[in-house]
Amino acid sequence: MNAAHTAYATAATHLGRAFLLVGQPDPAMEHLHAALDHGLPGGIEPHLPLLIAEAERCVTRGDHREAIQRWQDIAALQADATPEVIYHRLSAAYAANRAGFGGNQTENALWGDVSKHTLLAWLHRWLQPVLYLEIGVDEGVSLACASGAAIGIDPRPELRLSVELPPTARIVASSSDAFFASQAHTLLQPAPELAFIDGMHLFEFALRDLIHTEQHMAPWGLVVLDDIYPCHPAQACRRRRTGSWTGDVWKLLPILRQHRPDLTLLCLNAHTTGLLLIAGLDASNTALAPVYLEAVRRYRPIAEPPDAVLERHGAIPSDHPLVVELLQLLRQARQRQWPAQQVQAALAPVRERIAAAEQARAH
Ligand SMILES: C[S@@+](CC[C@H](N)C(=O)[O-])C[C@H]1O[C@@H](n2cnc3c(N)ncnc32)[C@H](O)[C@@H]1O
Repeated sequence: MNAAHTAYATAATHLGRAFLLVGQPDPAMEHLHAALDHGLPGGIEPHLPLLIAEAERCVTRGDHREAIQRWQDIAALQADATPEVIYHRLSAAYAANRAGFGGNQTENALWGDVSKHTLLAWLHRWLQPVLYLEIGVDEGVSLACASGAAIGIDPRPELRLSVELPPTARIVASSSDAFFASQAHTLLQPAPELAFIDGMHLFEFALRDLIHTEQHMAPWGLVVLDDIYPCHPAQACRRRRTGSWTGDVWKLLPILRQHRPDLTLLCLNAHTTGLLLIAGLDASNTALAPVYLEAVRRYRPIAEPPDAVLERHGAIPSDHPLVVELLQLLRQARQRQWPAQQVQAALAPVRERIAAAEQARAH
């Protein structure tokens, strides 16, 4: 970092702190992230006491909805170094929030064809994964779709499950970053064959989740990513202001298309906010990690999803024959224990048909 960058970072930090102190967290976050992007000397650490004090002030005055944003802001600034206690404070704010999140009917609308949980249960029946990994458990509805061995990751210390989980399901109370840093190598044995990423709804968290998940997946595995299609721009805001909230997870698709052209990506028009099926996984592929920071800097400032995302251009109906074709191929790959390169080669014709189907639905 040169002197100009350091000077910019320092100035941006002062601005960020000033906005925070006058109760304007949106520009505060923009400036603090810009400061970090420019190599803020000492990182965000020296500024955490102020950020935490401001979040606690929201709690004290009973504004739990704003407190949720503030704890999440702190997590966004600390990224994979976020301590679990921040997630615990976030979780407590969620539990205490009686004000909902706002947004009008249009902003909270949801659509799609088959429900994501119906689809997930169907994927479980098809693939019968030897191990299922889920990031983001909440009330347990998606984890309950598993019938075999399953591990659900969620940093909330106490989950309020609304369903009964199968006895083969296990919940690990941890953020996904902490889980992958310390427990994944021992707990993700055998390699998961199905994974559902539905944790923090900020694209850089979902991107890290995907990078880490792929490192553990079987080559014939399938990763399912939730929330790729916000139904309204308000749902895609990074700081939540609607009940229905996808955050900016939609940004993963252009990032993957650019940096991982080897993956097979199938966007489903699922209810409520679409699902992305990701196959052709390669645990040894290292293409995403080096471009992570650049992608985060480029995509974080983008406030609104393009119309093509909002209108689900190219989305494939969830009951399209291509989905079964993909699953059949993954099953065959498992039976024959194909290595990643062989799975990817076998997927090539499926990818061509997916591209043609997307093209036909692009407008
Ligand atoms: C949308 S809910 C999950 C819903 C669930 N998958 C379902 O479909 O029934 C998101 C969950 O992700 C959890 N979460 C937030 N940040 C996370 C993180 N860093 N790692 C793992 N889970 C996280 C939240 O606590 C919340 O319970």
